[in-house]
Amino acid sequence: MTEEDPISLGLDDTQQVRIDDTGTYPAFSAPVIDIEDVHKIYRTGSLEVAALRGVSLTIAAGEYVALMGPSGSGKSTLMHILGCLDVPTSGSYRLAGEDVSTMTEYELAEVRNRRIGFVFQQFNLLASLSAWRNVELPLVYAGVDRSTRKQRALAALDRVGMGDRVEHRPGELSGGQQQRVALARAVVSDPALILADEPTGNLDSVSAREVLDLLDELHHSGRTVVLITHDADVAETTSRTLRIWDGQILEPSSASATGGAA
Ligand SMILES: Nc1ncnc2c1ncn2[C@@H]1O[C@H](COP(=O)(O)OP(=O)(O)O)[C@@H](O)[C@H]1O
Ligand SMILES: [Mg+2]
Repeated sequence: MTEEDPISLGLDDTQQVRIDDTGTYPAFSAPVIDIEDVHKIYRTGSLEVAALRGVSLTIAAGEYVALMGPSGSGKSTLMHILGCLDVPTSGSYRLAGEDVSTMTEYELAEVRNRRIGFVFQQFNLLASLSAWRNVELPLVYAGVDRSTRKQRALAALDRVGMGDRVEHRPGELSGGQQQRVALARAVVSDPALILADEPTGNLDSVSAREVLDLLDELHHSGRTVVLITHDADVAETTSRTLRIWDGQILEPSSASATGGAA
């Protein structure tokens, strides 16, 4: 798992890209996320799975949105597309007004690395690195100098209440502590968009509450946050809930009656 940490996919710190490095989106009037009629079909041998079947949605800057649906409904598939970790089979994705399908590989890497922070259910920390070394990784890829990296990694760990565990490796930390380290890593490059896929799925209720409080704080500091969950109680902590069912987003009007709405 660790070698595949999506944050590092395709990144090359020798390539500096034209997108500005303020870590925030310019004041676009366009939504941060604008997806239209997205389909995703997985083909495995002769088997085809339509994981997304015509998904359209927009998320404005500064929103805190839950994407809720049962296991297998297409949540992670959609998150991978939102995070530019995968591409749709058809349909369009505009990120902060820019058509993702026209971006080059390293523009995409740049977007993933600087403008989006990822949090996963399994934490995805590198087991051999200390907490602060894990947190500084996105800055390594971004070409930030060593002393600034350490400073920012320590500050990010401090913000998530892990300032006294910076030299610990993931194996020496509880699940909740590991997820807080992962959150520090997600925000260390000051991204405008945070994508969290079942971030509390492996946590006890106290740790889950801490992680949700931190996401809430991030939202209040102006970030756009998309929280993926199958848990209605978790979804309730956000300001808007989108329901996904069998690869389709349910209309808000039918959201209270999901039972018969497939
Ligand atoms: N890499 C893949 N190859 C083939 N099928 C996949 C792949 N990833 C997901 N699927 C299928 O797509 C559907 C949606 O999966 P996923 O997006 O992981 O759902 P969720 O995150 O809501 O549980 C499921 O039927 C799943 O089995
Ligand atoms: Mg999933």
